[in-house]
Amino acid sequence: MRGPKSSATLIVASCSLIFLLTTRGGSQSAVTQHDDAAAAAAFESLVPALHHPRCMNCHSTGDYPRQGDDGHRHTMQIRRGPDGHGVNAVKCSSCHQDHNLAGIQMPPGAPGWHLPSPAMPMIWEGLSDRQLCELLKDPRQNGNRSVEQIVEHMETPLVLWGWNPGDGRTPIPMPQHEFLARVKEWAARGAACP
Ligand code: HEC
Ligand code: HEC
Repeated sequence: MRGPKSSATLIVASCSLIFLLTTRGGSQSAVTQHDDAAAAAAFESLVPALHHPRCMNCHSTGDYPRQGDDGHRHTMQIRRGPDGHGVNAVKCSSCHQDHNLAGIQMPPGAPGWHLPSPAMPMIWEGLSDRQLCELLKDPRQNGNRSVEQIVEHMETPLVLWGWNPGDGRTPIPMPQHEFLARVKEWAARGAACP
């Protein structure tokens, strides 16, 4: 049985811990204060952009990319392949370059154009907002990234392409600076999920 002395030590220890945690929180600036409700709200506001066809055409189920605003299966039997870059002679890079080719129905492009690998397919289709949020935070599903690295990833070419998708394609309607601001807000507030 625990004596009164050790309980007292325990209480003092827990109090110091709480004190440490609160003062650490208190020393942070207003923008970076953890706030689960604000983080979850920031994530919710991102969902329409994340679910946009410009993202979903590479983040959907199946062993193939998709096309168009209706997300139809990529024509010409294009497949994900063992590493997401296509199969044998039909690599994504056979047609997709590091920039959009001008003209309607010409291949769009950005540096490193490919699908996630089948081993870590990063499929967002069919997930609830909460599940999508949990996936983005899970290093075993998100390409071994921390939340900070997910934030950084939102400024890499395949993501930025969504705002510059080439002739005849609808860009993501939420302004890009607003999208990035909300991603950063979500992370800074503690990256809680809805
Ligand atoms: C041409 C295909 C393609 C498009 C379009 C695309 N992505 Fe991705 N995405 C990928 C690939 C491939 C990876 C894996 C890259 C890696 O791990 O290095 C990935 C990974 C990610 C990740 C990290 C893993 C995860 O699912 O948590 C995020 C976040 C992400 N993409 C966001 C977006 C957003 C937002 C858009 C739309 C604005 C988008 N992507 C459009 C191919 C694409
Ligand atoms: C034989 C040529 C060819 C190959 C190989 C190819 N694509 Fe495409 N892809 C195209 C063309 C052409 C378009 C444009 C179609 C259109 O706009 O009607 C396109 C469109 C797309 C789109 C649609 C973008 C959007 O949001 O509408 C995605 C995503 C895509 N390709 C991904 C891939 C990936 C990933 C690979 C490799 C696994 C690949 N493609 C291989 C020719 C190809």
